[in-house]
Amino acid sequence: MSSIKGKIITVVGSGLIGRSWAMVFMSGGYMVKIYDNIPGQASGAITEIRKQIEELQQAKMLRGNLTAAEQLSLLSSHDDLLQALEGAFFVQECVFEDLEAKQTVFHEVENLVTESVILSSSTSCLMPSNVFSRVQNRTRCIISHPVNPPYYVRLVELVPHPETLPAVMDVAYSLMTDVGQAPVRLRKEIDGFALNRVQYAIIAESWRLVQDGVISVKDIDLVMSEGLGMRYAFIGPIETMHLNAPEGMEDYLQRYSEGIKRVLNTFGPVPDFSGEPADRIIKEICELIPAEQEHLTARRERRDQLLMGLAKLKK
Ligand SMILES: NC(=O)c1ccc[n+]([C@@H]2O[C@H](COP(=O)([O-])OP(=O)(O)OC[C@H]3O[C@@H](n4cnc5c(N)ncnc54)[C@H](O)[C@@H]3O)[C@@H](O)[C@H]2O)c1
Ligand SMILES: *[C@@H]1O[C@H](CO)[C@@H](O)[C@H](O)[C@H]1NC(C)=O
Ligand SMILES: *[C@@H]1O[C@H](CO)[C@@H](O)[C@H](O)[C@H]1NC(C)=O
Repeated sequence: MSSIKGKIITVVGSGLIGRSWAMVFMSGGYMVKIYDNIPGQASGAITEIRKQIEELQQAKMLRGNLTAAEQLSLLSSHDDLLQALEGAFFVQECVFEDLEAKQTVFHEVENLVTESVILSSSTSCLMPSNVFSRVQNRTRCIISHPVNPPYYVRLVELVPHPETLPAVMDVAYSLMTDVGQAPVRLRKEIDGFALNRVQYAIIAESWRLVQDGVISVKDIDLVMSEGLGMRYAFIGPIETMHLNAPEGMEDYLQRYSEGIKRVLNTFGPVPDFSGEPADRIIKEICELIPAEQEHLTARRERRDQLLMGLAKLKK
């Protein structure tokens, strides 16, 4: 993909995710133009990015082959959308998770760019057919859903609109690979995409087990962090099945599928996440980690430090 090097990407929205995307794209040598509709917000984002990039260089965790100074020279901020879009081949939208805001942004952007420009959204939960409903040429629209924090957690879910051209998927896939992210392709849109559907299945069963008095909050989290999570950082659920029987997947299914179905049939309904069970679970987690800012911030910093170490290990 070196043929697209030196090209320009516009990031629309300079919040948490917009800043992260900018850092990821810069690390791969792309020029990044950040726009925000609040005047001064995009230049504030650059100040924040500079601080982070310099810290990453100090910690020897800077991604890509360029120095912090070289990466920062690729970045510019704009309070004018037309100026921000000039020359871009790819637009990554990162505004609030609000359908109308996104529809308006893409409607505006489409009127300011040429036909070949790819329009990409960071949405976590909105469907492509809704996000792009006000775009006329939807063949060049795609969702590129990152995971927080994208600098350490590299997965990007690429979700097409029903009309998206395969070639557009391919460009997004190559771009993500080129900047060192780990893209996956969904073949069609579905509520929650893949990551959140799997995540919600885990949340639901963990919740039911605590709600039903089977296990404590502390211990269900350990089931993940000391058990399943240990291998899931390196191999997925399907490979896990394949490796867990002497003769591989077919053998695994012969040995275990009846048991899996038996257990799955005992799963309860979708939890309510409210009322007495919620009060109890909130109390239990807040005893472990009080919900005051200082405690939450400390735990988030610990999480990011650990993820940084894991990212290093995976490399
Ligand atoms: N935070 C996460 O963990 C996460 C993970 C994956 C995806 N996402 C998605 O990324 C998107 C952005 O999330 P975030 O956490 O960065 O939000 P955020 O609130 O931190 O940032 C949103 C930014 O967009 C700007 N903005 C709002 N309307 C705009 C407009 N019309 N034009 C230009 N800029 C505008 C705001 O001024 C703000 O700077 C959301 O769709 C979210 O679902 C978030
Ligand atoms: C860094 O350089 C190596 C070797 O030249 C190259 O293979 C790799 O793609 C580069 N990485 C990035 C992010 O540009
Ligand atoms: C729509 O966008 C695609 C992809 O960028 C482009 O190839 C095509 O020419 C566009 N269609 C029209 C009608 O302009």
